[in-house]
Amino acid sequence: MPYRRKTIDPEKIKEQQAICAELFERLTADGRRPLAFVDTYGCQQNEADSEKLRGYLAEMGCGFTQDEFQADVIVVNTCAVREHAEMRVLGNVGALSHAKKARPGQIVAVCGCMVQQEHMAQKLKMSYPVVDLVFGPHELWRFPELLRQVMDARERRDDRRRVFATAKDDGAVAEGIPLRRDGTVKAWLSIMYGCNNFCTYCIVPYVRGRERSRLPEDILREARQLVEEGYKDITLLGQNVNSYGKDLDEPVDFADLLRMVSAIPGDFVLRFMTSHPKDATEKLFRTMAECEKCAHHIHLPVQSGSDRVLKAMNRHYDRAAYLEKVALARRYMPDLVLTTDIIVGFPGETEEEFEDTLSLCEEVRFDAMFTFIYSKRVGTPAASMPDPCTRAEKQLRFDRLTELANRISGEKHRAYEGQTLRVLVDGETGKEPYNLSSRTSGGRLVHLRGDPALIGQFVDAHITTSNTWALYGEVVE
Ligand code: 5AD
Ligand code: SF4
Repeated sequence: MPYRRKTIDPEKIKEQQAICAELFERLTADGRRPLAFVDTYGCQQNEADSEKLRGYLAEMGCGFTQDEFQADVIVVNTCAVREHAEMRVLGNVGALSHAKKARPGQIVAVCGCMVQQEHMAQKLKMSYPVVDLVFGPHELWRFPELLRQVMDARERRDDRRRVFATAKDDGAVAEGIPLRRDGTVKAWLSIMYGCNNFCTYCIVPYVRGRERSRLPEDILREARQLVEEGYKDITLLGQNVNSYGKDLDEPVDFADLLRMVSAIPGDFVLRFMTSHPKDATEKLFRTMAECEKCAHHIHLPVQSGSDRVLKAMNRHYDRAAYLEKVALARRYMPDLVLTTDIIVGFPGETEEEFEDTLSLCEEVRFDAMFTFIYSKRVGTPAASMPDPCTRAEKQLRFDRLTELANRISGEKHRAYEGQTLRVLVDGETGKEPYNLSSRTSGGRLVHLRGDPALIGQFVDAHITTSNTWALYGEVVE
């Protein structure tokens, strides 16, 4: 059964904005500007969601702080992909009780993927009395209404009343939520939400719901506005951008969308993430090669180099198919920057199967690899697969893979020494002598010596030296 795409009625978003105006009156009644602290964990999608939370909070009159002792409202936007992130969240949320003791009026909200898991919402309910409000990703659009419920309870002196909004849902598309972006040079642009792939290790499809695409006209409107506002680096976001448009009535796919966005007049770099290898098509590679503004960078998570493990992961490709895609992409873009994600120690992974991953990495020579030790996620199929390998063995494998990744990245970086590359200056490093940070079109980090007035501009950089993590250079006048 194809999933029927749901949308939130724009009138409902307007109602939320009216609630923001009402909360503005209440929050600023004593003439003081309230402060909010939005703490974000996890992926870029979460960063983008936090920009919406900040958008609403700004409409409520809030300024922003990073200091929980100064904040009137704290929102912790959580991640559920690995246990480590959850542990950090729980530790930090627990520690918020100190700030709340010092500021009894403070409101603490926890939202995002972690709380969409029933056992985690329960845990917060039972063991974290500091938390006043909990809401999952599907409820983000009605954050003002939920916050008002908490404030109403406070006013009634009903301090025990806490608000939990984590109902099971497939998710919907909500347009019109105000955004307050983090930077002035780089911007995230969500083009779709959710995931339909059900890789056996992954919790995302359970917490973020089914794939649903925004309409091309809504995406284009936002992109045009970003260019007008002077953003120079736009990243189209989705869990699997290659399946963009499958749920739309219009016959439009991701490559078409990429072409439409890159046709917007202006000087900017267009990127996207993440791509599932099974859906990365020749049409996509051709479009990337043809569109001048499109960065020659693709993040193509391979996860493993072993056919058996890939099958057990439900990835729908094997090693040979992945290598073919890479070769095809490189045929279209010889200068392609290729990055990947890899999971080490998937249940039942043998030493030989791990070595298949190492050999695949040697063969592909990724520009950067994001490597993770498998983390068991409650409710996913992999959680009930036999997993005889010990944590210590997995750690050893992880260390070997990291060593390989660093060696390859260092070698790739060294090859840039002496070259002149076009980069976008995106900020200051806070360190001398290389005081500016910048990125190549392929997303490589370049530390530069130069005038901070160059932030937000494209410049030519002469690369003088490098290490495993970055390139270093001078601005060519
Ligand atoms: N354990 C470890 N890594 C995981 N990822 C997703 N789920 C898990 C898990 N259970 C990794 C994958 C994915 C990246 C975003 O996180 O490599 O591509
Ligand atoms: Fe998780 Fe796989 Fe979907 Fe990525 S494609 S979010 S790894 S289920």
